[in-house]
Amino acid sequence: MAEGRFLSLFDYKTEKYIVAKNKRVGLLYRLIQLSILGYIIGWVFIRKKGYQETDEAIQSSIITKLKGVSVTNTSESGLLVWGPEDYVIPPQGEAVLFIVTNFLETPHQRLGHCAESIKVLDGHCRDEEDCEEGKMVVAGHGEMSGRCLRQDVNSTGTCEIFGWCPIERKFKPEGPLLKNAENFTIYIKNFIHFPKFSFSKSNVLETTNDSYLKKCRYDKEVSPYCPIFRLGDITQQAGYKFQDMATFGGSIGIMIRWDCDLDKGYDNCNPQYSFTRLDISHSNKTITTGFNFRHTRYFKNAAGREV
Ligand SMILES: *[C@@H]1O[C@H](CO)[C@@H](O)[C@H](O)[C@H]1NC(C)=O
Ligand SMILES: *[C@@H]1O[C@H](CO)[C@@H](O)[C@H](O)[C@H]1NC(C)=O
Ligand SMILES: *[C@@H]1O[C@H](CO)[C@@H](O)[C@H](O)[C@H]1NC(C)=O
Ligand SMILES: *[C@@H]1O[C@H](CO)[C@@H](O)[C@H](O)[C@H]1NC(C)=O
Ligand SMILES: *[C@@H]1O[C@H](CO)[C@@H](O)[C@H](O)[C@H]1NC(C)=O
Repeated sequence: MAEGRFLSLFDYKTEKYIVAKNKRVGLLYRLIQLSILGYIIGWVFIRKKGYQETDEAIQSSIITKLKGVSVTNTSESGLLVWGPEDYVIPPQGEAVLFIVTNFLETPHQRLGHCAESIKVLDGHCRDEEDCEEGKMVVAGHGEMSGRCLRQDVNSTGTCEIFGWCPIERKFKPEGPLLKNAENFTIYIKNFIHFPKFSFSKSNVLETTNDSYLKKCRYDKEVSPYCPIFRLGDITQQAGYKFQDMATFGGSIGIMIRWDCDLDKGYDNCNPQYSFTRLDISHSNKTITTGFNFRHTRYFKNAAGREV
């Protein structure tokens, strides 16, 4: 058996053609050939650009900078001037940055003893037993001292704590305090690099004219390479009014899309910006709407105590 298969290696074979002189069969055969060729040229090459390489591993960096000044006048702190160094947190603003548009303040806090806030459930007490000395108040503001401030005239019905006193005030703000934050501008500097093609570009116009960035505002048609946006315009493009968001906060996602066909050249590789509000679902208000956080500033008074 094995020998027979080995010998068949040396057989010589030839094919026998049958020519059908029939136009319909011939046409069908050519059509099948053509449609396969048509698929490769038409679909793979032209529509899907199967011959092009793509680079998904884009490298990118973002730097932001804000400009604008606001003045607030509150009964606690009086007149205050807010520059970018005050309202941008963190100041270097890389992937995420927060812009203060409103605040609640508790000035002149110092370490000491005072009543826990009524709003903290674990701080409520009926007698001293509820306020075990040295215990932390769950979700509260300090350490229990062992006293229950119930018998006092100014009864709060809560434990006395050791912490930063007076306790942080919580109330519903009436409106944004940094009113003209809408007119602040943000400069978004973005560099991209497609490593596979050694292609780099930035969203800032390549000019040596340094007065360009001082005056320009982004406009899709007129100045697509001016990456300076008014905050009010950003929220508007996301579909919300700045003043509606400024009181309770919100979060806005900024997406810069670089979908470049490098065959079309350097000039046709342009950034596209889109803005969306992230903290809201189906344009309805829920308890998750808004954004806020705590921030402290420490000072030493004349006697060297931290306040
Ligand atoms: C700031 O507010 C106080 C009252 O809260 C007012 O008396 C004062 O005139 C205000 N100052 C300015 C510059 O608006
Ligand atoms: C109650 O509060 C008033 C004013 O806040 C204060 O003058 C008084 O001393 C307090 N009384 C007690 C017993 O703490
Ligand atoms: C923003 O600036 C425009 C023009 O400079 C001004 O008319 C408008 O009142 C400002 N908005 C606020 C909230 O200050
Ligand atoms: C620089 O840009 C400004 C505004 O875009 C323009 O008015 C000015 O003529 C430019 N200067 C030069 C030297 O091109
Ligand atoms: C928004 O909430 C209200 C009730 O609070 C409801 O009637 C309405 O259908 C909601 N709208 C959307 C778009 O979810």
